Amino acid sequence: MESLIVTVNRIQRACTVLGDHGGDTNLPTLWEALPSVVVVGGQSSGKSSVLESIVGRDFLPRGSGYGIVTRRPLVLQLHKTERGLQEYGEFLHLPKKKFTDFSMVRKEIQDETDRMTGKSKQISPVPIHLSIYSPNVVNLTLIDLPGLTKVAVGIPPAFLLGQPESIVQDIEIMVRSYVEKPNCIILAITPANQDIATSDAMKLSREVDPTGERTFGVLTKLDLMDKGTNAIDVLEGRAYPLQHPWVGIVNRSQADIKKNVDMIASRRKEREFFASSPDYGHLASKMGSEYLAKVLSKHLESVIRARLPGITSLINKSIEELEAELSHLGRSVAVDAGAQLYTILELCRAFDRIFKEHLDGGRPGGDR
Ligand code: GDP
Ligand code: NA
Ligand code: MG
Repeated sequence: MESLIVTVNRIQRACTVLGDHGGDTNLPTLWEALPSVVVVGGQSSGKSSVLESIVGRDFLPRGSGYGIVTRRPLVLQLHKTERGLQEYGEFLHLPKKKFTDFSMVRKEIQDETDRMTGKSKQISPVPIHLSIYSPNVVNLTLIDLPGLTKVAVGIPPAFLLGQPESIVQDIEIMVRSYVEKPNCIILAITPANQDIATSDAMKLSREVDPTGERTFGVLTKLDLMDKGTNAIDVLEGRAYPLQHPWVGIVNRSQADIKKNVDMIASRRKEREFFASSPDYGHLASKMGSEYLAKVLSKHLESVIRARLPGITSLINKSIEELEAELSHLGRSVAVDAGAQLYTILELCRAFDRIFKEHLDGGRPGGDR
């Protein structure tokens, strides 16, 4: 049976297509009802590095000192494929174009960001959708957002770039609009070499998720802590208790990136760091980016399962509205829009069937 996460991924994409079409249906509400994982944290806390480690590929634009690199949300859908198949990326705005060269994925993210925001280096809340198909990923939807910042560090004065002074607040408003939603799973990234009490990620997630039930605390840069100090109190859940255990991470350093240390070597280095560490050795099996990816995927699946009844009823409403809109369109000229709606309607009907099977727990004629 098709994995629930894969099914939800498809609906999320269908909703986005319909959003572009501007249809006035239930699908935007449906999109909000579907859970996803959002990465939040301060600038340079290691958000992009964590995402790349989870994917196991280099593909995100990197800062070259000036400006905010992530200026539009990136909705990243990971699809696990069969062993031996080639990895590729595909953008929603460029359907049918397969990117097997991941440096071209990075370039396309940059170009597509500029297409929306212009060269003015402003931010835009309109997401870029990227799917990655690979035998080496777990099924997961992750959303990368611009980094929180109190002051515009690393950004030249606004007048030089034409960046509006309000960019700091604009970023916070954008990040909030994601993490406030009760269906949002928060990946709160905090660097271990800074005071955790002042972490932007922890501050915001505490505010929107006081019980910590949808927050996963991620501690990066464990390798950069001062000698003689460690983060055991945090990682063992005493210093900043959350419902879910904290996960410690060691990403590539800037020097590793310059030396072109690849992802496979970097994951191996990370495993060795924990396995050989006198401080963290006893936690080694529950640390690192591969473990984090597995925990997130499992959690996402269980959240989706718990929400199935609500999702199926929303899908049924969407089907009714799509049918009504289609019969109305039948009398007008919008052939393209009609075809698009029709495809989405077919998708919704298919999802309804799949979800019902999940709800019935595979039992023919089971109670719903
Ligand atoms: P973002 O701004 O939150 O997306 O942060 P990046 O992922 O771009 O990381 C910022 C810088 O910190 C880069 O130079 C990374 O190489 C470095 N970095 C991130 N995580 C770690 C880590 O765990 N250890 C070390 N040594 N460097 C890291
Ligand atoms: Na932070
Ligand atoms: Mg980044």
